[in-house]
Amino acid sequence: KQPVLMAAAILTSMLLTATAQAKPSIVIRFSHVVEEDTPKGQAALEFKRLVESRSRGRVQVQVYPNSSLYKDKEELEALQLGAVEMLAPSLAKFGQLGLRDFEVFDLPYIFPNRDTLNTVTRGPIGRKLFEQLEARGIKGLAYWDNGFKVMSSNTPLRFPEDLKGKRMRIQPSRVIEAQMEALGATPIPLAFSDAYAALETGLVDGTENPPSNLFSKNMHLVQKYVAVTNHGYLGYAVIVNKKFWDGLPGDVRKLLDDSLEEATRKNNQEADKLNRAALDAVKKSKKTQVNELTDAERAVWRKALEPVYRKMEGRIDRDLINAIRRVAE
Ligand code: LMR
Repeated sequence: KQPVLMAAAILTSMLLTATAQAKPSIVIRFSHVVEEDTPKGQAALEFKRLVESRSRGRVQVQVYPNSSLYKDKEELEALQLGAVEMLAPSLAKFGQLGLRDFEVFDLPYIFPNRDTLNTVTRGPIGRKLFEQLEARGIKGLAYWDNGFKVMSSNTPLRFPEDLKGKRMRIQPSRVIEAQMEALGATPIPLAFSDAYAALETGLVDGTENPPSNLFSKNMHLVQKYVAVTNHGYLGYAVIVNKKFWDGLPGDVRKLLDDSLEEATRKNNQEADKLNRAALDAVKKSKKTQVNELTDAERAVWRKALEPVYRKMEGRIDRDLINAIRRVAE
C-alpha cells in the first residue's frame, strides 16, 4: 500500500507546485490609449512577453490598450491612486500634472533628428525630467518613441496658412495650443479616444499625429488631406506607481528593468518603420491625399511656428530649451 500512498503524495505536491506557479504573485496592470498595431501598442506587448516568460508566470502583465480601462487624463489619476500600476502617456500629457517642462518635447522642430532626441532622453536631461515625477508619486522608467507628426485636414493642406480658421484637435499641451494659434487655428484639446468621432462628426476640422496613430484609428477615412510637416515629436514616458515599484522585491525590479530595456530598444528600432508603413497605407487607401513636403516647404512651416518659442518662454525653463539646442548642434 505504501508505494501507492507515496505516489499520491508526490502527485499532490506536484499539483500544488503547478498551481502555485500558474498563479502570478505580482500583477501589473498596464493601461494605454492607442491601438496594438502602433509603436506603443507593440512595445507594451513585447514587455509583457519578456516579463512573463522570464519570471515563469510569477509576474503577470495585463495590457489594456485602446482606452479600454481609462482615457488619457483618467489613466494618470488611476496610476496615482494605484488602480493601475503602469502607463506610457505621451510626454505632452504631463503638463496636466503641473510638470510643464515635459512640454519641451512639443516645441516645433526642436529635434532635428532622432539622434538628438535619443541623446536627450538617455542622458541627464531625460533623468532630470524623471526626477520631477517623484513628487507626484510616479517613477519614470523609460522613454518610448513614436515619431514625428503630420498635419491633417478636410481641405487642401500644404502651407501653414491652409490651417487658418480651422478647429484642430490637439493633446492637452499648452505648447501645442500655442502652435495651433500661431497658425491661426483654434486648438481643441480632446482625449485621444474622442478624436476620431470629433473628426467624423465635424466637431473639429483637422488634427495632428504621427501616421501610425492616424492610420490605426482610421482617421484617414475622415480626413481628406495630410501634409508631412514633421513639425513636432510624439514620444512617451513609461511610468509606474512609485509606491508599488518601491515595494517590489529587488530581483523582480531587476527583471522588469531588464525586460523594459529590451522592449525599449526594440520600440526605438521599430517605431520609424511602423510610421513609414502607416503613411504608405494611408496613401494606398486613396482616401487621403498625402502631400510630402520639400525642405523649402518645411522651412516655411518652421518660420510660421517660430513665435511659439517666444510665447512659451515663461512656461518652459529656458535653460532646458538651451540644453536641448546644444545637443542638437
Ligand atoms: C494623442 O493623444 O494624440 C496621442 O498622444 C495618443 C498616444 O498616446 O499616442
